[in-house]
Amino acid sequence: MTGTIPREFIDLLLAKIDLVDLINAQIPLRKKSGNNYFACCPFHNEKSASFSVSQPKQFYYCFGCGAHGNAIDFMMQHDHLNFPEAIEALAKYAGMDVPHTHESIKKNHSVSTLHELMQTITTYYYDHMRQSTRAISYLKKRGISGAIAQQFMIGYAPDSWSHVLDQFGKTDADKKHLLDAGLIIKREEAHQYYDRFRDRIMFPIHDHRGRIIGFGGRIIDEGEPKYLNSPETILFQKGHELYGLYHAIKANRTLNHILIVEGYMDVVALFQHNITYAVATLGTATTEHHLQRLFRYTSEIIFCFDGDAAGKHAAWRAVQVLLPIMQDHLQIRFLFLPDGEDPDSFIRKTNPIQFEELLHHALSLSDFLLQTLNEQSDMTTMEGRARFATNTMNHIKQLPTGIFQDILLEELSKRARVSLNSLKQQLKQSRVAATVSSTPSQPQIKLSASLRLALALLIQCPTLINKLPQPLLMNNLPQHTLLIKLIQLIQQKPGITTGGLIEHWRHQPEEALLVELASWNHLIPENGVANGFLGAIRQLSFSEFDNEINTLLSKAAGAGLTNPEKLKLADYISKKKTLAEDDVTRNA
Ligand code: UTP
Ligand code: MN
Repeated sequence: MTGTIPREFIDLLLAKIDLVDLINAQIPLRKKSGNNYFACCPFHNEKSASFSVSQPKQFYYCFGCGAHGNAIDFMMQHDHLNFPEAIEALAKYAGMDVPHTHESIKKNHSVSTLHELMQTITTYYYDHMRQSTRAISYLKKRGISGAIAQQFMIGYAPDSWSHVLDQFGKTDADKKHLLDAGLIIKREEAHQYYDRFRDRIMFPIHDHRGRIIGFGGRIIDEGEPKYLNSPETILFQKGHELYGLYHAIKANRTLNHILIVEGYMDVVALFQHNITYAVATLGTATTEHHLQRLFRYTSEIIFCFDGDAAGKHAAWRAVQVLLPIMQDHLQIRFLFLPDGEDPDSFIRKTNPIQFEELLHHALSLSDFLLQTLNEQSDMTTMEGRARFATNTMNHIKQLPTGIFQDILLEELSKRARVSLNSLKQQLKQSRVAATVSSTPSQPQIKLSASLRLALALLIQCPTLINKLPQPLLMNNLPQHTLLIKLIQLIQQKPGITTGGLIEHWRHQPEEALLVELASWNHLIPENGVANGFLGAIRQLSFSEFDNEINTLLSKAAGAGLTNPEKLKLADYISKKKTLAEDDVTRNA
């Protein structure tokens, strides 16, 4: 994920920046104990301070919502940046230049060329709209004001096969750019191209920073398809982008909630009527990426669907995407419009006050979930209630552990008349089952108590490396690989902090474990940490020798040992003994 930014530079950057200063500039921090600072968490709503920043660790952690990370994570979460953007911003803050490889310079260059091209074409379509009576009269018929058309840069693609091509595709290089941006299409035969969008009302799609990355084009008369969207390009991924998000961010300093609607026209019409916080997916179902993006700006999302069966079906599909990411501080609600209405038609018939009144009565996720499942079973019979309980449990299992899950369990217990304890038992069992059958690509990392302690102490306090006892670990047990990697990394980068270490595991399977250990309260007092670490490493060493000795002994019993192996066995036995004696003296 670090892409083409050299790893060395990222290490250097994290070493140079002080996380406490960085965060303190945005959120006033209070010093509480030692080198730990506290504040109210910027990532969830709270009254008491549970957001902690550790100076020595260069790591923050919120005991309320679990937000955590190093300086890069803070920029990503707080300023809504992606990884390279966060590096860029931190480098600027630290007065450094990000070194880029040739590859990345080339890619950045072509991306910004395409952004410029999209901007030019947007203006081109907009100017054509202003000259086209056909386009203007259509927009008027749809009730779109001139001001809102300008704000959203709604345009018109002329009725021609080569307007854009002729104007902007003079050289081969230009044609390639038009093709990469999805604005022209290559014919199967020969080197011939034609415009993708013809005789359509054009909605430019902005990314969250306001750069134009694609278009949606609506047909003016009847015809298929009603909306034609840009294809996936290096600028545009449908499953990630939301129409209207940029305008919502710009129009609101904070967003108490964001409304997800279905269409371009819905976003624009709502905006024109002062509902400035609606976004639309681009002809696809809502994805986890969409939700994660929106939750960077708000903690409440309201889905707005048609009241018909298709709307209910779409809402149900959204629920399946939502459940696994429903952290306790998030809220989801569902609004079903009266039959035959969409937000565009509804807001034009009513007014913003009436619309917001409707929002007040939107169903909560739990109500919608239970109501829908309820409708699928006959609650007057025992069989019906059992079926309801099973189906509901299957959904509750998807939720992350937390208060919301507990509340739903309780509600289910009441409705299905099943004891809360037996539901809790079921949930526990399914967790165990999930752990056992977890996919091999995400290995469940099982830690012995000593290994857990050694890893935690070392990641929290990398200078412990100087206390590493002899003999060192031999790394003959696969479960020790992570610890060995950690040790090597600290030896290569003296002075590296917790935040800097974790950076090396970004998007790796072990990342979550290391983060957990970094903020784990091991309860060992400050002056006992070094000894605790020593003891844990000794234990691990001991088990490694034990393992080797057993292997050699079973070979001795079978095929027999060679002379060097015999020496090795004697050596290991004596080393194991030394370790055990050390332990005794230490404990005495
Ligand atoms: P709708 O068919 O509900 O249209 O599509 P609409 O938004 O109400 O548009 P108007 O009012 O008739 O102009 C909802 C959304 O689904 C996607 C578009 O993003 C559209 O805004 N869609 C629809 C397509 O991508 N292609 C289509 O052919 C139709
Ligand atoms: Mn519509």
